[in-house]
Amino acid sequence: MNTQKTSNNVTEEIKSKISLSDIIQKYVTWDNKKSNPTRGSYWACCPFHNEKTASFTVDNHKNTYHCFGCNAHGDAFKFLMDIENIDFPEALRRLADISGVNLPEKINFDPVEKQKREIIQRINEDAKKFFINELIKSENATVFDYLMKRGLTKDNIEQFEIGITAKRGELVRHLSSIGYNEKQIFDAGLSAQNDDGEYYERFINRITFPINDKNGRTVAFGGRDLTNKAPAKYLNSPETILFQKKNIVYNYHNAKKLLANESQLLVCEGYFDCITLSINGFRKSVATMGTSMSAVQIQLLWQLSNLPILCYDGDTAGVNAANRIIDIIFPILKPGYSMKFIFFPDGMDPDDFLKKRGKNEMDKLISNATPLIDIFWAHFITSSNFGTPEDRANIENQLNKMMDRIENAEVKKQYKLEIRDRLTAYWRSKSFESNRVFFKTTKKKPSAKLLQKYRSNSGEDGISWQNSIFILSLIRCPELVAEFMDEISLVELLDDRVILLKEKIFKFVIENKVKNEQSILLVNHLKDLGYARLMETIERNTNEKIHISLLDDVNIKDAKVKFRNVLNELEKNRLANDLEAAKLSYFENATDINESKIYELKKELDNLKNRESQGHKQEAHIEKKFDKWYEENKSRLERKN
Ligand code: UTP
Ligand code: MN
Repeated sequence: MNTQKTSNNVTEEIKSKISLSDIIQKYVTWDNKKSNPTRGSYWACCPFHNEKTASFTVDNHKNTYHCFGCNAHGDAFKFLMDIENIDFPEALRRLADISGVNLPEKINFDPVEKQKREIIQRINEDAKKFFINELIKSENATVFDYLMKRGLTKDNIEQFEIGITAKRGELVRHLSSIGYNEKQIFDAGLSAQNDDGEYYERFINRITFPINDKNGRTVAFGGRDLTNKAPAKYLNSPETILFQKKNIVYNYHNAKKLLANESQLLVCEGYFDCITLSINGFRKSVATMGTSMSAVQIQLLWQLSNLPILCYDGDTAGVNAANRIIDIIFPILKPGYSMKFIFFPDGMDPDDFLKKRGKNEMDKLISNATPLIDIFWAHFITSSNFGTPEDRANIENQLNKMMDRIENAEVKKQYKLEIRDRLTAYWRSKSFESNRVFFKTTKKKPSAKLLQKYRSNSGEDGISWQNSIFILSLIRCPELVAEFMDEISLVELLDDRVILLKEKIFKFVIENKVKNEQSILLVNHLKDLGYARLMETIERNTNEKIHISLLDDVNIKDAKVKFRNVLNELEKNRLANDLEAAKLSYFENATDINESKIYELKKELDNLKNRESQGHKQEAHIEKKFDKWYEENKSRLERKN
């Protein structure tokens, strides 16, 4: 084991960056009763001998495993070598990849293996040159046109080394002519084999994007279809010994060259997204190439930034992708490192968004990115029901179980504290009971006649202007929900559709802590729930667009004042309607109760009107007082300042 000695530092570095249980868990099933993840201690049936009860244990702190049955014992390297039957250099390479540790060039790999890797790398490099040249010499201007239309300049094309494929057979002919054999070209991922064992080119009629490793060496390609007929819009090289999709991030080598504090690291899914971001000034952009994020990729991203920003679709697919990351990232979270999320509206990807909305809007999205903990919180709180104490205990359990997956003790502690606080506030706010408040209609419904009257002075579709403006305010300015929680719960709306819509808004905004700038998330959510038409009606009733612009600055102070007026109007309406109904009842049946009801309602209504006019009076009074004071003190203040 000479090699082990020479690379002692590297092996230690690698071990410090991985958790042994992560490596081993692919091969065993943990015994949850015996294991104690908090202590980094795991138990399972031994993968090296046959047994029915767990006598194999892993200690993440000591980075060792031990089997009390067969005495198997060692570290991550020994484990991989034994279980996969590979040699030390291969285990070193795999663990280096997983941990994101750079191996020094001088480590002595198996020479045959080393040569194989070098050839694959060289073939990909030569193919890249061939594709680039093919685009340059191409008589066919349509590809250039296409790239220009997508916003790329000649310089950009050069910078990202974009090329196109040639006629079938030409790449292989070229590569053979410079000395590679068919098997080597196949191993490099550039050709495939048909049932008769014949080789044929993998990439045909495609724009090629070279995929480079951390050090900028081309190891694979992504190809975008030019015909619109291919079954897959993008085709990537197959997995080779140099290219494993889950270990590579597109454009990483370029992002790596930028200073750590230059700008935030943006992580998107597509080649074009990454390129468009990059050429629009968001230079530190990379792409995961459509795959779901792996732990290795997260480790790679963390080497460039402690807070990468993931760019996803605003629709369910994007939210689901964000949720899936929780599973992957929790075990590897460490102090100071996390992730944030951006969700693009209306099914746009970063490329579409930049083209339609521009850089400034992009900047705003970035500065309002959602932290990981909010994604985690929303994931659990949105999808559950909390009607009973048992339900609430259940969700607390689930949250805790998830947080137990965080291996790092400090991070786990902080997560638990914060989630504890949020739950306490949430249970106390009782907004989780909103369903009950909203649906409980203990009050008698207004009579048909009254509804008729009410509707006659209402807007389109029988929805009153007051109700419309109420909903509009909440959608445009979701922060009002938290400000006026009680009032909004108790407000009386006559239309069932509006009542339901209010309930959906309330739930979504509270659970996702929607900020004013994120109102588009709410709009999209409501559209998903089938409220597009009702929202259009509301827009027409108020002559205002519900969603003016994604990031229109909403001044919460102004909004609060206006909203208070809207609530007053609604309250006045309610009292007036109730009074009408009470009058009818009284003249039909003049009981004492009916009489005092009229009296109460009349008093309340007058009070409200009084308060309003007093408010006006007081404002007028203060205004007058101020004018007088200013006239008297003007000259004195002038001298003083
Ligand atoms: P998208 O389907 O979102 O495409 O795939 P896109 O990037 O917006 O493509 P354009 O803008 O129409 O050119 C996102 C990424 O997923 C991977 C590719 O890496 C792509 O960039 N992908 C997609 C595939 O690998 N294969 C596919 O068939 C589709
Ligand atoms: Mn796109």
